[in-house]
Amino acid sequence: MLVIEKNALSEEIESYVKKYGDDRSSLLMILHEIQKKHRHISEFAQQEVARLLNIHPVEVYSVISFFAFLNSNPKGRNIVRICQTISCDMKGKKAIVQAIERELGIKVGETTKNNKFTAEYANCLGLCDMGPAMAINDRVYTNLTPEEAVELLGKVK
Ligand code: FES
Repeated sequence: MLVIEKNALSEEIESYVKKYGDDRSSLLMILHEIQKKHRHISEFAQQEVARLLNIHPVEVYSVISFFAFLNSNPKGRNIVRICQTISCDMKGKKAIVQAIERELGIKVGETTKNNKFTAEYANCLGLCDMGPAMAINDRVYTNLTPEEAVELLGKVK
């Protein structure tokens, strides 16, 4: 990251700290703002947040790791989450995963070269009786067949 970019990011984070306050309770809101603008929270941004809130960088990182909507690495513009929990597993998750990986040309956990999709595993999406389930961004799809999963990806493309 260039010095000029670092300065701009520092100023941006300072503006969030001004907006939300410089104590620990502001951490999540500040991270949310950074995520929204940059689609991830870089190591430098994490260090800046820690410095400005006077907390340890490990604390910042652990909050990012805990929440699925916060990422420390850049992700694709669309996030595909496949439920890996037991009900969906028993209802055919494996075939859905294979179809998605084949269609996107990546493994779960990876991002397509054009940055359009990141595929991830998720724990229960809350619709266990209608598995297998997957989410594309904020929308959850249930009772999926591999063909339907691929068709849904096609609609996003
Ligand atoms: S187990 Fe898959 S949605 Fe709950």
